[in-house]
Amino acid sequence: VCDNDRKVAYLAMPCYGELTTGAAKGFFTASAGKLRVNMKAQESSLLSLNMNVLWCWALNAAHRGERVDYFAMQHADIEPEPGWLDVLVEELEAKKLDVLGVVAPIKDQQGVTSIAMARPDGDTWRVHGRLTMREVYRLPETFTSEDLGYPLLLNTGLWVAKWGDWCRRIHFTIHDRIVFNAEQETYFAEVESEDWFVSRLFHEEGLKVGCTRKVELGHRGPMAFGNHEPWGNEWFDSRSLKQSVLDERAAGDWFPHDVAGWLTEGEGRELARLAEGKVVLEVGAYCGRSTICLAQTAKSVGVIDTFDGRGTHLPGDTLRLFRRNLRRHNAASKVTVYQGESVKVLEGLPPVYDLVFIDGSHDRDSVAADIEAAANVLRPGGLLVFHDYHDEDPGVVEAVDELVATGAELVGRCESLAIVRPIAGNLVEMNHHV
Ligand SMILES: C[S@@+](CC[C@H](N)C(=O)[O-])C[C@H]1O[C@@H](n2cnc3c(N)ncnc32)[C@H](O)[C@@H]1O
Repeated sequence: VCDNDRKVAYLAMPCYGELTTGAAKGFFTASAGKLRVNMKAQESSLLSLNMNVLWCWALNAAHRGERVDYFAMQHADIEPEPGWLDVLVEELEAKKLDVLGVVAPIKDQQGVTSIAMARPDGDTWRVHGRLTMREVYRLPETFTSEDLGYPLLLNTGLWVAKWGDWCRRIHFTIHDRIVFNAEQETYFAEVESEDWFVSRLFHEEGLKVGCTRKVELGHRGPMAFGNHEPWGNEWFDSRSLKQSVLDERAAGDWFPHDVAGWLTEGEGRELARLAEGKVVLEVGAYCGRSTICLAQTAKSVGVIDTFDGRGTHLPGDTLRLFRRNLRRHNAASKVTVYQGESVKVLEGLPPVYDLVFIDGSHDRDSVAADIEAAANVLRPGGLLVFHDYHDEDPGVVEAVDELVATGAELVGRCESLAIVRPIAGNLVEMNHHV
């Protein structure tokens, strides 16, 4: 292989305690020759400083115009199999990920790992829970936040990242604080570790983060704690959780109860049923409650909203909250945002949608204008679905009834949802009334 054809990995080892023999072996045999590997170890008693020094090493190389394709890190007590970096890079590329970590258990008999799930409420001093080795073996060999239902927080023991522009915006740090719990009359030390901190930055950057057991390793303590099979006393992180998140998921409790909105759970499930495998467009998304339901099953969801909270309890910018809610519920990857006035945006879209969900302004004229513009972006046989088709919103009822009066078919109702299949010819006729 000509050296110029080989991709270049910067392989970093932050040293804090003893370097074990197995770790050294793994470090020097990381690639079987597929990659050009530049190696560097950095030792001081400050772990996050070590990591930042190593990160700067790669940043400076890239800044000088040298080739950097990947950055990888291995801790001095992590003992991976030879060729591990080739395997990781291949998997990262195959799964189109930006960052890929390897499952490593903590060094005791519990079988808990330090791969965690971020809390939905944004509290960075705690996590929703950590994964156990038993849970890791119930997940796909390589898994992401989408498999967990929570943002995945990696451990930095063994990982690789695809080099990109985002690399200039991250760093490692450990946050500490002391809090006084008045109920227990006790001071507590709290910490946000550097690996969970940096994982949260990855998510803020919108990166695709994965974790795998494709590479075998031992985490060297009194013995090597391996990742090659499910083991340990803990079936799930019982310190933080009442049941495994995987069982939570199995119960199908994905409805975003914690996202503001009026859509009921029954309506959300009906939307998910209607959207299955479809190219969906939504007019009026607010904080994302209905978007999250549609994105559970849709092929893709386009979202039109002014994101100024008009006509809602939250006048003001709702886009940040919308995006945050989508990320928390792992719906962001399917969603495209079109910020603007519904009719104007609709006029610029192609007729490729199988379903348009209309829940924007609720006065008769606005709904009628949305119907006219939305019908033009539907594929033949596509559906319009309306929210708030009930007595409390006479404007919606009036506009939908007018549509049905032109010959469109009311194909279903679910609570306040009305599902209508417009007939192309009749819509033209209706347009004259609008
Ligand atoms: C009732 S809320 C949508 C609720 C959302 N579908 C849900 O179930 O969670 C209405 C949304 O429509 C948006 N909206 C109202 N009129 C609009 C217009 N003319 N163009 C774009 N968005 C509009 C508002 O900003 C608001 O976010």
